[in-house]
Amino acid sequence: MWITDYYNITMIQLTTIVGTRPQVIKASALHRQIKEKYSNTIHENIVHTGQHYDDRMSDIFFRELEFPVMDINLNTGSDTHPRQISFMMEGVERVLNSLMPDMVLVYGDTNSTFAAAVAANKMNFPVMHVEAGVRSSNKTTPEEINRILTDHVSSVLAAPTVNGFNNLVKEGFNAYAEPPFSINNPILANTGDVMLDNLNYYFELAMEKSAEMGRYNVSPDNYAFMTLHRDFNTDSAERLNSIIGSMVALSASFAMPVIFSVHPRTAKAMREKLDKKLQDILKSGDHIITIPPATYLEAIMFMNHASVICTDSGGIQKEAFFLKKPVVLFREKTEWDELVRAGNTILAGAGEETLLEAAEVFLHKKPKIVYPALFGQGNAAELICQEILRFFEKQA
Ligand code: UD1
Ligand code: UDP
Repeated sequence: MWITDYYNITMIQLTTIVGTRPQVIKASALHRQIKEKYSNTIHENIVHTGQHYDDRMSDIFFRELEFPVMDINLNTGSDTHPRQISFMMEGVERVLNSLMPDMVLVYGDTNSTFAAAVAANKMNFPVMHVEAGVRSSNKTTPEEINRILTDHVSSVLAAPTVNGFNNLVKEGFNAYAEPPFSINNPILANTGDVMLDNLNYYFELAMEKSAEMGRYNVSPDNYAFMTLHRDFNTDSAERLNSIIGSMVALSASFAMPVIFSVHPRTAKAMREKLDKKLQDILKSGDHIITIPPATYLEAIMFMNHASVICTDSGGIQKEAFFLKKPVVLFREKTEWDELVRAGNTILAGAGEETLLEAAEVFLHKKPKIVYPALFGQGNAAELICQEILRFFEKQA
């Protein structure tokens, strides 16, 4: 018997609000689970803030991941953070006034997460935060502020890891909350990570994209896959030039090409801030092969065939771990500290020496890395659905 058979509830109206590439990808896992098993209990509307808007940063994932088109797009676009967030909050208010959901669900740590969660809270809608409790201990990044504030306006907090769960307990959340649940007495759960659900579900399909490597003339297990988009790396000309220059050096010293999927933020920064010499090297395609933002299936395929992954992404650190591929991280701190402790991620920053040292560890010394189930069992979407039901059952 499913757990839902125990519950005496009518259909829950859930509004999920996404806005960026990783959120569309994450949301597809829950949507799939609702469709497969909870369609009699949970009805989900998908609202997109429009923070990401290029086809390859947004719509392509709805098509590729068999996700229905979004119900509403607020068409926010790019702006300064305060203006972007206030535009989103007004849009979210309009949408919630019309949809009147029972719960608003948000993912991760972007401005869309924060704007949606705070607007919903101000209108007294319960908020569920998926990826709750994740912390980098670096409040100078917009993501860390978005994480903390979103957690503190939420009524259901779904942590992806034990670490995340423990961070919330340290911040005063009650691990043993009893019903009735509310923002003052939120549910705390360790559900695992929906990105693992997706990886398991799409892995075979992603591998069918392997022929694409031929287009770039690279061989399996002899290239680095690279992404870069964090503001502290792209907005500083010094860091940007250092990272790209170091990746050219890395390619030369390990005789290995780099496939670099270029985020639109980074494309703009490179046009404006990259030294002419490096621009010419990129144009030649000699060491670094730049490609437009990959689709999700392509990204997984490129990661799975790579010898090493060089990135500053949050999500890619986890996917690399699931695929047992080492990560050289263009950062000094990470919100996924457990990956550093496991030995799969090295915090290499932006300097050539540290980047090459990190690559040397993975490519030549090849340490033995163990891969415990830090992110759950690949059933996060199921556990999230159960927590949604738990919230409403006990309210009745
Ligand atoms: C945002 C998130 C970041 C997340 C990333 C995922 C915040 C503060 N940052 O960063 O946490 O890791 O998404 O990819 O929410 N642009 C385009 N087309 C697009 C989207 C962006 O050209 O479809 C360009 C614009 O020049 C824009 C810039 O990228 O100004 C930055 O976009 P923005 O959404 O503000 O931040 P991201 O760097 O994408
Ligand atoms: N991703 C993708 N194409 C790319 C780079 C990343 O589909 O070219 C996927 C990646 O597999 C992961 C998610 O986007 O699922 C991570 O998003 P991103 O790195 O933009 O943001 P972050 O996770 O750092 O917030």
